[in-house]
Amino acid sequence: MALRVDVPLFAEAAGADRTYPIIIDAEAQAEERFAAELAARAPGARVGLVTDTTVARLHLPRFSAALAARQIAVTPVVVPDGETSKSLARAEEVAEAWARGGLDRGAVAVALGGGVVGDLGGFVASIYLRGIPYVQVPTTLLAQVDSSVGGKTGVNLPSGKNLAGTFYQPLFVYADITTLQTLGARDRAAGLAEVIKHGAIADVSLLELIEGRAAAARAGDPALIAELVARSCTIKARVVAADERETSGTRALLNFGHTVGHALESASHAEPTTDPRNDPRNDPGNDQDPLRHGEAVALGMLAAARVGVALGAGDATLEARLEALFAAVGLPTDLDRRLNAEVLARVAVDKKRAHGGLGFVVVERVGSAHLERIQVAQLSDVLLGTKAR
Ligand code: NAD
Ligand code: GLY
Repeated sequence: MALRVDVPLFAEAAGADRTYPIIIDAEAQAEERFAAELAARAPGARVGLVTDTTVARLHLPRFSAALAARQIAVTPVVVPDGETSKSLARAEEVAEAWARGGLDRGAVAVALGGGVVGDLGGFVASIYLRGIPYVQVPTTLLAQVDSSVGGKTGVNLPSGKNLAGTFYQPLFVYADITTLQTLGARDRAAGLAEVIKHGAIADVSLLELIEGRAAAARAGDPALIAELVARSCTIKARVVAADERETSGTRALLNFGHTVGHALESASHAEPTTDPRNDPRNDPGNDQDPLRHGEAVALGMLAAARVGVALGAGDATLEARLEALFAAVGLPTDLDRRLNAEVLARVAVDKKRAHGGLGFVVVERVGSAHLERIQVAQLSDVLLGTKAR
């Protein structure tokens, strides 16, 4: 039985009401119901599909077969796995493949994959022929609980993550929970980080649920995971509906952990430039680099909890509480080992930087957060100054 969460979005510019559904389907052969949904919402449309190498091997055949069974023509583009596919060069390749495949303005894009494919596919859909409709079919836990919802698309630039992108809402989101059966433990934990984020900023009972069932969450218990997806999507839909384009500060609360998290993520992908003795990538015990996005956000949440306390505004128990939960679900906790001047320099180019300092999310008590402004220098003082505790 498929669950449905409707995302009510209020287009700020047009003042028009728009909604789209997130369909959460935990039953076998979800691809057939997905194809039926697509045929009903975009009758006669050809499909420009983006996926990555791993998802193409594991899940593309059954989705392609279901679309073919409904006579839906598909032009698939397969990009390499991983964050490096979120680039302008890769976006051009996808658009060029669709153009060579003859996709016109009547086509629909489908992003079948994790957050990388979703961000890239949504971005290309938003610029191809000045925009064609697109559908998110998220296949990682992170994409099902977070990135497929809310219409943020984008690619990375050499200066930092997500520095080029658009707000572009999908036609619908189809989360086939069974795709998660092939997901590795590390990617499952990375998705749990975003669920924990939603609990920390907006719903104490969601955080308590994961704390109480950490082992089942870590193991990917299907019923629990379906509940976490539905609850996360409900929270995210509510926040996005209140502030679609992150102008009022409400949506910015979803960036809890991202200011330092993005910097840690970029640093873990970059060539070493720091003293090699201080670089966690050179630690023989380190098998976590480059960091997954969710792992970096988890570490960023620890940093944000610490900074919140230093600002006199944050929950004093949060850092220890999150650290215990991260250890229980298989997320990294080695924040201090990773903090250095290079990481803080990366924070300074974060896209959320604005005149008068960074917008920084502080959880004042679990389930409630607000935005503070902080200077990068102040952030450095707090984080590098507390490192050796
Ligand atoms: P990802 O897309 O790189 O997927 C992680 C790995 O899992 C990849 O190797 C992929 O091939 C593999 N994979 C995907 N589905 C699988 C499956 N069903 N079985 C086995 N393997 C599978 O990473 P992610 O964690 O899904 O997403 C991270 C990205 O999402 C980052 O770029 C981040 O910036 C972005 N993001 C965007 C938003 C947003 O609102 N747009 C929100 C959060 C994160
Ligand atoms: N992941 C942050 C947002 O969607 O706004």
